[in-house]
Amino acid sequence: MDINKPETLVITCAKGVVPYLKLELEQLGYDLKISSETSIEITASLYDAMRLNLLLHSAVSVLWLLKHFSCSDPDKLYKEITSFPWENIILPTEYITIVSHVNTASINNSIFVNQRAKDAIVDRLFKIHNSRPNSGPAKDNIVINLYWKDDKCWLYLNTSGVKLSNRGYRKIPHTAPMQETLAATLLSAADYNGSQTFINPMCGSGTLAIEAALIALKKAPGLLRDNFCLNHIKDFDSEIWEALREEVASGEIKELPFKIIASDSDEKAIEAAKKNAIAAGVDSFIDFFICSFNDTPIPEKGGIVILNPEYGHRLGEESELENTYKEIGDFFKNKCSGSTGYVFTGNLSLAKKIGFKASRRLIFFNARIECRLLEYPMYIGSKQPKGEKEKEKREGEGKEE
Ligand SMILES: C[S@@+](CC[C@H](N)C(=O)[O-])C[C@H]1O[C@@H](n2cnc3c(N)ncnc32)[C@H](O)[C@@H]1O
Repeated sequence: MDINKPETLVITCAKGVVPYLKLELEQLGYDLKISSETSIEITASLYDAMRLNLLLHSAVSVLWLLKHFSCSDPDKLYKEITSFPWENIILPTEYITIVSHVNTASINNSIFVNQRAKDAIVDRLFKIHNSRPNSGPAKDNIVINLYWKDDKCWLYLNTSGVKLSNRGYRKIPHTAPMQETLAATLLSAADYNGSQTFINPMCGSGTLAIEAALIALKKAPGLLRDNFCLNHIKDFDSEIWEALREEVASGEIKELPFKIIASDSDEKAIEAAKKNAIAAGVDSFIDFFICSFNDTPIPEKGGIVILNPEYGHRLGEESELENTYKEIGDFFKNKCSGSTGYVFTGNLSLAKKIGFKASRRLIFFNARIECRLLEYPMYIGSKQPKGEKEKEKREGEGKEE
């Protein structure tokens, strides 16, 4: 297999993340085309796919387009899939998982589509090898993604396998952890580039602080994992892969001129965050504190402060949280001058309790909940948020639609 041959790669991400994924891909030097609200297409090689699996912070998966065809019914689907030379990329000893997204009038059952697609692949391999691969739901081996929309089908090898948001460092999730890729995207949206001090009160399991450390240390998130679907492709060259991993690791920074600060009032959250930071290899770059968010030590020269309070969607919880949101406003005003404060929340009526207008309101999704990253730049000295005029100007430039 020629791993340097140009192929079509589709990089997927969560809704709201495309602008940040685009930025990452551009910084890595790729020409790209935005293909949907959750994907970007590039022409690049399988070697690039290896590189992207290691380097990207905001992507969910790197798909390699195998085949694109018209399809009217399940029999045509079987015929088209079985005519692909699977023996060139899958050994019969592998385990196969099919993930299908079906939106076509004739079919309303994606399990049936998965079954037909799986049969098409294993029947072909059986004819050639007289032995068939096992199949099932685990995504830690060969993963095939099938998108069937109206009368069009796209068949991909998902080179990532398990989602890239699953970095592997979160040994203890604690309560309501955010996905690692969402945390990395919020940092990008907050213009965090790794040279500023980062402060994360209400850190929970530490996802934001750990992702900030990875960015500051130029540590590629994919190096934390040692299993991707691409490792299972037939004729996969592990020497090239190891050399690439070493090259990527050689760009890491070993020291930082500041400490990232993470705090939580819950001792168990800090325990989990510390364990996760150890697993990610960044624990020595984060100072952890067990304290109320408003007692978090803020360095004199300020930095970027992000809080992710609970949203209180269940009955009765919202009124209990009103005071917390009000106190976040006071904390920004009284303790964070010179910093830019951010609140990530899925509850806009609670966000109003913060007490002043956000200069930017960016939309993201935490699982299915529509959330906002709200920005509050704080003046040095005046202990007041930036002037109304300036806020209005920035709001005009804001990305909320
Ligand atoms: C939604 S969770 C944060 C999840 C985090 N982003 C993660 O990825 O794990 C909110 C956290 O705020 C903490 N918390 C709630 N009230 C607090 C307070 N008054 N002071 C400090 N921490 C608080 C909770 O213990 C919880 O860990």
